[in-house]
Amino acid sequence: MRVFITRQFPKSGLALFEKAGIEVEQWTENRDLTQEELIAKCKNADALLAAGRIELNAKFLETCQHLKVISLFSVGYDNVDMEKADELGIPVGHTPGVLSKATADTAFLLMQATARKAFHHHKRIAKGDWEFFDPLQDLGQELQGKTLGIFGLGNIGYEMAKSSKGAFDMEILYHNRSANEKAESELGAKKVPFDELLENSDVISVHANLSEETEGVFDADAFAKMKPTAIFVNIARGPIHRQSDLKKALESGEIWGAGLDVTDPEPMDKDDELLDFPNVCVLPHIGSSTFETRNAMAELSARNAIAGLRNEPLPARVKPD
Ligand code: DGY
Repeated sequence: MRVFITRQFPKSGLALFEKAGIEVEQWTENRDLTQEELIAKCKNADALLAAGRIELNAKFLETCQHLKVISLFSVGYDNVDMEKADELGIPVGHTPGVLSKATADTAFLLMQATARKAFHHHKRIAKGDWEFFDPLQDLGQELQGKTLGIFGLGNIGYEMAKSSKGAFDMEILYHNRSANEKAESELGAKKVPFDELLENSDVISVHANLSEETEGVFDADAFAKMKPTAIFVNIARGPIHRQSDLKKALESGEIWGAGLDVTDPEPMDKDDELLDFPNVCVLPHIGSSTFETRNAMAELSARNAIAGLRNEPLPARVKPD
């Protein structure tokens, strides 16, 4: 049995393949494979372990329907045509749970960094602009007792709500299709319609999957309904917000700031104007990038691949909602 991995892979995951007697081929170049290259690699493999921005569309799946399993090195699966994978009977695994805390911590970091204009101050020093003390210069906002609105309250949203409640005693509102009873009983979270979330939140944090239903929901209309003091945080997927609308909302003062770990497109252009806004903090999609979490993701994605190769149920199979 042989697995093709689209990146250099953490040792903890490689060890599991070795123990299971599965041969591994890793892609070692610092660029994504083209679809042709991926197909050629998968022709010689029984399983694919896919990390990074790689689209597994209907054409790829049909051409590589011999694969016994596709294991994703991510919790998100918006890059896979799940309908086609199901139709072809290819199980798809992902990495929920193990990255929830690290990813939520990134949202928490961006919320605070934006509220205190942290990246702007860092850039100011680098430009030699740290002169005298001006009590009115570049003031930030405090978060104590404010309202956090979570869009998509699953595992990651829950961790963000819990940290924000614990650190700043924030009120928690959320918008979801189904109720999150744990968040309601433990954190006093309140499920509200989308417009109420927009109108009443001081910080909105996006934690939803990207789907037809969520694509572009944060558009000009949505930003216009938010408070002029609101901070928008997105650590889920860039296309959930319309980036040109976000830029206009920030320029016109319809909202106050934004903290983004995901952008549309990715990677963000180095000359993107958003990078110069004082109330904007951008990170390069590093939500899960800690030693601990990347090792845990490697182990879970390896276990998914090994189970698929053995025709066993995957420890974490994607169940599209
Ligand atoms: C995830 O796990 O979905 C992260 O966003 C990486 O893509």
